[in-house]
Amino acid sequence: MTITDKNEFQSGVKRVIISEEEIQREIKKCADWISQEYEGKPLLLVSVLKGAFVFLSDLSKEITIPCEIGFMAAKSYFESTESSGDVQILYDLTQDISQYHVVIVEDIIDTGRTLSAIIELLKKRDPLSLKLVTLLDKPDRRLIKLRADYTLFTIPDYFVIGYGLDFGEYYRNLPYIAEYNTALLD
Ligand code: IMP
Ligand code: MG
Repeated sequence: MTITDKNEFQSGVKRVIISEEEIQREIKKCADWISQEYEGKPLLLVSVLKGAFVFLSDLSKEITIPCEIGFMAAKSYFESTESSGDVQILYDLTQDISQYHVVIVEDIIDTGRTLSAIIELLKKRDPLSLKLVTLLDKPDRRLIKLRADYTLFTIPDYFVIGYGLDFGEYYRNLPYIAEYNTALLD
């Protein structure tokens, strides 16, 4: 899929479900929680690319304690709205996490497959502690039992785009979260 036309791009946005203001308000609360919980501790925020890059960027700017940042990339969705079921680690951390309290910063928990694979991998590396923060949770679609320690928004089973989340690699740059117009798929 290649989109270059602005109107075609805009027609993918069915409706905004979470505004920029709502996102920023909840991020501030989450950052306050992290800043209190991890004060005086070696903290590593681990972001799962690509979807969480916008969330991590805004969240980290509101955190008031020292922290390091690491990236991982995993892929479970290809050019579709259904999970492939395959989880592939495309890029791994460079830090030795046994020295850190680790907070995974995720964009969305859907079936839970991607994240449970990542959590299992990180647990084996024996971090001082491991917690999970997610911007969005779609509990209706969960296939693997998994709960975040901090969820900013719980949403129904919509395919969402924006604020880092993509459809076919587009729409990550929208400043809000919108429902994708699946009518375009017909
Ligand atoms: P899971 O393994 O099914 O939990 O899938 C998690 C990954 O699928 C997320 O990190 C997203 O990259 C992608 N994903 C799940 N739901 C959506 C959605 O509604 N919009 C865009 N990407 C999604
Ligand atoms: Mg993702």
